[in-house]
Order: sequence, then structure tokens, then C-alpha cells
Amino acid sequence: MPRNFLRISDIDKEDFEHLFRRSAELKAAKKAARTTPTLAGKSIALIFEKLSTRTRVSFEVAINDLGANALYLNPNDLQLGRGETVEDTAKVLSSYLDGVILRLFEQEKLEEFAKHSTIPVINALTDIGHPTQIVADLFTIKERGLDVGDMKLAFIGDGNNVANSFIGAAAILGFKLAIATPRGYEPDFSSLGVSGEGVEVTNDPDEAVSGADVIYTDVWVSMGQEEGTDKRMKMFKPYQVNAGLLAKASKDALVMHCLPAHRGEEITAEVADGPRSIIFDQAENKLHAGKAILEMFMKD
Ligand code: CP
Ligand code: NVA
Repeated sequence: MPRNFLRISDIDKEDFEHLFRRSAELKAAKKAARTTPTLAGKSIALIFEKLSTRTRVSFEVAINDLGANALYLNPNDLQLGRGETVEDTAKVLSSYLDGVILRLFEQEKLEEFAKHSTIPVINALTDIGHPTQIVADLFTIKERGLDVGDMKLAFIGDGNNVANSFIGAAAILGFKLAIATPRGYEPDFSSLGVSGEGVEVTNDPDEAVSGADVIYTDVWVSMGQEEGTDKRMKMFKPYQVNAGLLAKASKDALVMHCLPAHRGEEITAEVADGPRSIIFDQAENKLHAGKAILEMFMKD
């Protein structure tokens, strides 16, 4: 049975520690232009139903840097796009490839693919989770000298896929997590299969950022949610990460965003591009953490 990375709960604390260590090594190796081709000879496909800049490009470069061959497959160019089953696709691709990275709408479809696949499957974002993002983000926080077992992260905005993966990570690593969302946009703990015990869920952003070491936000309208845009814009307005909100957090609080950002909506330009923002470190670290993840799940 291959080892898959479908949810954050597929890794444990030791795995996290290994991934942080290895991400740092791979980052240093990249800077020194001496990355070892640890996945030489392998072929790894990326199948993305949703748009992507960071995840797609960083994984493609990571695969190439590690000596493997990357294949980007638009699902509409595959027979999958005209009705071939996920099961048959997974079986056939397993006979050609050594691993697959999937960005799909439905988590169930991802699970179905993994069920019939004999090669490792990595979740590159679904409607309910973004586990590889959270590995890169926590590595970025650690790089800044914070203890990911003993810090407070305030997530402000939509209790959706990115927030969900932080819930999973907090349960494993033990950091304090406060999530502030408008009423009706709280995380759905039942779909995550976790109790959420220890996670502070509030509708008050000021309360969430109080004492926070990290303030994190994400778009108000995720891919696939465009129909509800007008309502979301009104509901989320008080949840903007701006200078006023930052003033209520600890003086050194870092600001994070998985990107893409909509300046003027979930975050102001002043904050996104200000001195406390580490959004581009996060984006860069997707490359280094992505390599550590590929090695963990796809190396022999
Ligand atoms: N953060 C992130 O996953 O970005 P992309 O949608 O550009 O991959
Ligand atoms: N929540 C966002 C994350 C994008 C990386 C989305 O699903 O569109």
C-alpha cells in the first residue's frame, strides 16, 4: 500500500519535525546549487481541476530539481474529462507513474482516486483541505524562530480548506489556534472528523488576534464558491486584516496569507506589503517544503 498525503492527519508530529528539518536542508542545498536528485528516474504527474500558480509551479520545479520527470495534466485533456471513471484513471496512471499530485474540488474524489491507486497520492488542495500549504507555512513560522508547539495563530476569515488544515495541524503540534469567521462560515468540524477541542472559534476578530504571534488570512471567495460572492463581500468586511486589527495583536505578530491575495478585501495592501508580512517567504517555502514532502511520500 502506498503512503498518501490526503489530509494533515496523515502525518504525525515526528513527520512534521522531519519535514521541517529536511525543508531547511533542501532550501540550503537549492541556494548553494547542489540539490541531490533523490527521485531520479521517477515520473510524477500533477492533475489540477482548479487554477494554481504556487502549488503547481513549485511542485513542478521541485520534481525537476529532485531529478524526476514532471507531467502536468489538465483533466480536460484526459479521458477523465469526458467521463472515464476515477477508478479506471487511477489504475491506469498507477501503471505508468511513480506518484500523482491532485488538486480537485471534492475530497471524496481524491479519496476515491487514492483508493484505486497503487502509487502515492498527494493532496494539492480540495474544498476541505490544503495540507501541503500548512507544512510550508509552519516551516516558515519556525524559520522565524517561533515554536510551532507553543505559539498562538489567529486565522481570520473563511473557516474553509486552509483553516481546516490548521485545525488538523494544531491537534498534532499543540499550538493555540483561534479562528474568527462571520456567523455561518465557521469550520465544519464534523466533516473533518475532529472534535476541534482546544480550537477557539469566535465571530470576533479582535478576540482572536489578542495575544497572537501569527495572524493568518485567506481569500473570502475560494475557488468554486463564486456564486456567493456578493453576500460574502458584505459578511466578511469586518474581518479584513488591516492596521487596526494588527494594533490589537502582539507587537511582533507576523502576518501570513497562503495567496493569491485580494488587496483591499481580506487584507490591505499596507499590511500585505508591510514589515510584518512574510507572505512571500511562505510562497518560496512551498518549493522547499514541497521537495521534503515529495521525498517523504515518493522516495523508495
Ligand atoms: N497558496 C496556493 O496554493 O496558491 P496557488 O493556488 O497559486 O497554488
Ligand atoms: N481557500 C483558497 C485557497 C487558495 C490557495 C481556495 O480554495 O481558493
